[in-house]
Amino acid sequence: MEKLSSLSRFKNSCPFLGRTKTSTLRTLTTSSSPRFPSLSQLTERATGCPIMGPALALRSNQIASGYASLAGQADVQKIHHSKGIYPGANPTEADIAKCPHASAARAAARMADELTAASTKPAEKAASPAETVAAAGCPFHKAAATAESKVPPKETVQAAKETPVIDAPSAFSYDSFYTAELDKKRKDHSYRYFNNINRLAAKFPVAHTASVKEHVQVWCANDYLGMGNNPVVLETMHRALDKYGAGAGGTRNIAGNSAMHLALERELASLHRKPAALLFSSCYVANDATLSTLGSKLPGCVYFSDASNHASMIQGIRHSGAKKVIFKHNDLEDLEAKLAMWPRETPKIIAFESVYSMCGSIGPIAEICDLAKKYGALTFLDEVHAVGLYGPRGAGVAEHLDFEAHKKAGESLEPVKESIMDRVDMITGTLGKAYGTVGGYVAGSADFIDMIRSYAPGFIFTTSLPPSTAAGARASVIYQKHHAGDRALKQVNVRTVKSRLAALDIPVVPGPSHIVPVLVGDAGLAKKASDKLLGEHGIYVQSINFPTVAVGEERLRVTVTPRHTAEQIDGLVKALDKVFSELGINRVRDWAALGGRASVGVGLEDVTPIWTDEQIATAGNVKTLRDGEQAVIDEKAVEVVRGAFEELLGRVGSGELTMEEKKVKLRVEKVERALLEGAMNLAAEALPKRKGYVGAAVEGIKVPVASTVTVSA
Ligand SMILES: Cc1ncc(COP(=O)(O)O)c(C=O)c1O
Repeated sequence: MEKLSSLSRFKNSCPFLGRTKTSTLRTLTTSSSPRFPSLSQLTERATGCPIMGPALALRSNQIASGYASLAGQADVQKIHHSKGIYPGANPTEADIAKCPHASAARAAARMADELTAASTKPAEKAASPAETVAAAGCPFHKAAATAESKVPPKETVQAAKETPVIDAPSAFSYDSFYTAELDKKRKDHSYRYFNNINRLAAKFPVAHTASVKEHVQVWCANDYLGMGNNPVVLETMHRALDKYGAGAGGTRNIAGNSAMHLALERELASLHRKPAALLFSSCYVANDATLSTLGSKLPGCVYFSDASNHASMIQGIRHSGAKKVIFKHNDLEDLEAKLAMWPRETPKIIAFESVYSMCGSIGPIAEICDLAKKYGALTFLDEVHAVGLYGPRGAGVAEHLDFEAHKKAGESLEPVKESIMDRVDMITGTLGKAYGTVGGYVAGSADFIDMIRSYAPGFIFTTSLPPSTAAGARASVIYQKHHAGDRALKQVNVRTVKSRLAALDIPVVPGPSHIVPVLVGDAGLAKKASDKLLGEHGIYVQSINFPTVAVGEERLRVTVTPRHTAEQIDGLVKALDKVFSELGINRVRDWAALGGRASVGVGLEDVTPIWTDEQIATAGNVKTLRDGEQAVIDEKAVEVVRGAFEELLGRVGSGELTMEEKKVKLRVEKVERALLEGAMNLAAEALPKRKGYVGAAVEGIKVPVASTVTVSA
């Protein structure tokens, strides 16, 4: 249509256009030339025109060379990288297809060649414009352009006209594309191998592997406290499942917004002492949806993102289309220098984490809040690896930093004024790690939450979490709010593991948090060490390689829980020592000799843990478990959880029975009836037979009934 209206402007100057009907012109512009598929029939005809022919040739050469010269620009590299393309000397077909620049260059070159072929007399053999203009710069460009310059000369075209077989362009090779992409991963050691690990609720931290009979200890799960099998969490989930069924049945907007979801959101808002919170299917989604919505809505927004931020934040910022400035990890000077480059009135968001999960460092939250205030920015804090684990109520590092004030404030919904948690504008967290279930959330001001609720596609257009999951997550949050023993014992066990490894000169990336990153420094070795630990010691620790950590900083990320026993800790330390020796993995002294790596071997080992001795003591006398000992279950916290669900699920232990209890009661009653009836019949038979006797005469005979009856399922 557009093409036609621009052509009609030339009707007066071109005799051909002037005398051709509009309908014919439409057909000519919309049908491609059978001989030169990249050209329309009209363009093919125009190549024969003494005026249009040379003009077309000139213009197409300009376009093709435009791509060639553009290829030299740095922007092209940016385009490639944004599409995930890192071309080497020999780009593959798949790379060319993925690269917008190379694909456009290929199309332009092909068109140029076909124009030349269409206007060249059979005797002439013109040089291919694609070959002429294909230049260095874009590493794909030459390959893309020349790959398409194989347009048959006109004599072949003439011959093809006589034999009506036209070579169809070959279809895209999807399989070779997949293979090439996977090869890249294998080459740079970033290909991921997943272990089949089935964590057993009744045997935490033990799991079975692909074979149900083979048991291993799990030392890398993010079920940081073992809440995934906490009895009151399971009890609440069972009760909610029986009452509300398996799934939510819809999005929050359509039938999927239940009392369980709303109660969980209120609980999370109160955990962070914020006016409101919003639940998502995971924190990956929470981060992505929140950052992308906020950044696309705030006019001219600029993100300031810590260099070590999680992929979910990077993705959210990218999806927002807003500008992004990366500051060096935890580097306040760098952040300030970058903030200062923007006018105060420009909307800005500083996105960062509290606990960085791969190195165990902790973000300088208070100082970042100071900078945010100074430069007019909002703060977005990801507390994914901290909720449940830090603070007197488990609200995270922001709460932990004002430990006493928050402990004193107890269950008050009011913010603790000017506390660090109060100063952070937006906090995200997960329900899938220390809280042992699944889901993610963001907490903040009422209007901010309402805006995300109203605009974020990642919140709106997806089925909400099952009510039983929301119930289990809430039970977990409430339990941890009222029981600090698990997180305190976790810190004690972490300290033990770190000091035992230090005594063996085994390198641990130093940090004040619960993360224990054992440095290996080589992708192949890290995988071998992980395989050896699993295969020879029954210890599962996943190796962490690029791109999750930098090349050369590969590690085993050990997570120690309050449920690992003293004997299991001993086994882990000894196994690591053996594997390090057998594989010749560098110890701290080796890294020191090499000048250090990932802060190991540079004298930074003595880091003060963020949980102080006094804070650990507030949880009472916590003690590492021994093999065979039961984990502590806080009865008071269990009662608080049960109380919180009374309205929706009824009272546990009262006359009101759960569905499961009702089923068991019915079965017991049935067996009891059969027992009584049978016994009565037997007794009746034993009585002397009288004429006209009926069974009712045995009434009153006492048959002892056992108080417990075994009922099979
Ligand atoms: C820092 C950080 N943020 C967000 C997430 C995503 O959380 P979820 O597992 O709930 O999607 C993760 C997950 O590992 C994470 O490490």
